[in-house]
Amino acid sequence: MPHAPDAPINLLEYERAAERVMERMAFDYYASGAADELTLRGNRAAYERLRLRYRVLAGVGERSLEVELLGQRLALPVLVAPMAFQALAHAEGELATARAASALGTALVLSTLSNTALEDVVAASAHPVWFQLYVYRDRGATAALVRRAEAAGCQALVLTVDAPLLGRRERDVKNRFHLPPGLEAKNLHAAGYGALERVEHDSGLAAYVASLLDPDLTWDDLTWLRSLTSLPVLVKGVVRGDDAGLALDHGAAGVVVSNHGGRQLDTAVATIDALPEVVDAVAGRGAVLIDGGIRRGTDVIKALALGADAVLLGRPALWGLAVDGQRGVTRVLELLRDEVDQALALCGARSPRDLPPGLVVRP
Ligand code: FNR
Ligand code: LAC
Repeated sequence: MPHAPDAPINLLEYERAAERVMERMAFDYYASGAADELTLRGNRAAYERLRLRYRVLAGVGERSLEVELLGQRLALPVLVAPMAFQALAHAEGELATARAASALGTALVLSTLSNTALEDVVAASAHPVWFQLYVYRDRGATAALVRRAEAAGCQALVLTVDAPLLGRRERDVKNRFHLPPGLEAKNLHAAGYGALERVEHDSGLAAYVASLLDPDLTWDDLTWLRSLTSLPVLVKGVVRGDDAGLALDHGAAGVVVSNHGGRQLDTAVATIDALPEVVDAVAGRGAVLIDGGIRRGTDVIKALALGADAVLLGRPALWGLAVDGQRGVTRVLELLRDEVDQALALCGARSPRDLPPGLVVRP
């Protein structure tokens, strides 16, 4: 039997298992949200409120979870979200996550702030790697990242726009969050921005972001970014139809409906509640992805039924990584894939494109 009898059997249990094995500072950094963590909890609560009006006798014996996204074929409608500093979970860090995503036939979105050089992550992946970009005040260093991502073979850029400064995660402030000796933001080593040190009275990451990232970005910077690259650019962190429309008007290939997993603006709207107006505004002109609080197969089905093309999985991938490295991430993705497949069948659909209209209701 491949899995121990007490091994977690769902994504929520993986969080508890990870908490048992992780250092407090690292666990809190991964788990926390901004301020009162209302949006962190709200993302989940919003999924829990939705109910499914499933169809029956739909002949669901043969099913496929495949989707096509930006011309790339993925085995399931779940990608791994960009998450910083994965060596805090496991020595293999982003390499383990990338290999697990590849094993499942899906894509990894690699954070700018990875502990592993982007070139090494792409080399370890058999499936697409997309590169998440933070724009530094130093535009030369930013442009160099974009060129490296493209040269390495990344297949899309994901521009994160909900972090002009870092949300105040009070657990990180208390813990004086920093990277332990030997770890750095590897992609920024050459530019001299690799270190993330302990600071007095604050999160070292908040201090890093405040001093180095550009808080003055506007839609013109999306135009600037597009002038640097031929890769498709997705805009991550949108929760409104008007902003989604502006993203497409400025040449984005799509948007990610996200509130950063409740880590930025606390009391921000739950992403699944924001999704319908974004889908309306995009109106088929680009891809719509969503993240935040996805923990169950039925969450994925709800997002797809409300018009998302795919979802990004955040923290559960880190919990799997902390518990059992590459195998743990693989297991987390398998559990979610199997739940999505089961929910698909029970909803009366054979594929993500085949979900019945009117499937989701807010009672
Ligand atoms: C993140 N997220 C994030 N987003 C991003 O664009 N760049 C980044 O470097 C990071 N780093 C990061 C670190 C950690 C520890 C977490 C938990 C999250 C946000 C991430 O991409 C995603 O939006 C949320 O994590 C999705 O919510 P769930 O699935 O974690 O609830
Ligand atoms: C975070 C940043 C790095 O959420 O995006 O911690």
